[in-house]
Amino acid sequence: MLKVAVLISGSGSNLQALIDQQTVGQYRIVLVLSNIATAFGITRAQKAKIDTVVIPHQDYETRETFETQIIQTLDNVQVDLVVLAGFMRILTPSFIDHYAGRLINIHPSLLPKFKGLDTHARALQSGESEHGASVHYVTAELDGGPIIAQACVPVLPDDTESTLANRVLLIEHQLYAGVVSAIALGRVTRPPLVLVDNRPAPVMLQQLLH
Ligand code: GRF
Repeated sequence: MLKVAVLISGSGSNLQALIDQQTVGQYRIVLVLSNIATAFGITRAQKAKIDTVVIPHQDYETRETFETQIIQTLDNVQVDLVVLAGFMRILTPSFIDHYAGRLINIHPSLLPKFKGLDTHARALQSGESEHGASVHYVTAELDGGPIIAQACVPVLPDDTESTLANRVLLIEHQLYAGVVSAIALGRVTRPPLVLVDNRPAPVMLQQLLH
């Protein structure tokens, strides 16, 4: 069983999707870690009887000491995969190196389009007809690591930032649970050559769930 840690800072709706899928998905969430004590994701984890840890970033003088605490906490429970799910802290290259090939993130756009923040507003502004989400391995380049899988949604004529964000979030839940399950089943290779079922990544959600 793949041992997974999920790092969050907020609502944790992706975390909830990962919790709901864990029995069928052949992985086990052994720890939920948040830098924000009031994050609703902590409540979700507690309800599911998953261990939680809060490591408030403001208690640490440097990013390095904050991250050292996270690394010690995760390595203590020997996690196989670290899943970023709305974790709103930039990670240093040394943290990323420590978990190379074992650290993934979900980003609300069809990368390489719209790296960074405000992806839905930017997709609307640029008149995209399709938008979506990507799950990728984390590298030192922000939102730039090798993409494992993507999911698309249409952009509708009367969309606002929030209607579009909600549509993307629903597909994120399927995508993230699908990718973590696929990793647990050994269907995904690690960088530099990322293959899903022996096919070059990224794959689309439909292929992932086939
Ligand atoms: C999601 O949109 C995700 O793509 C981004 O942060 C948001 C987290 O939402 N990285 P939630 O906390 O999982 O509801």
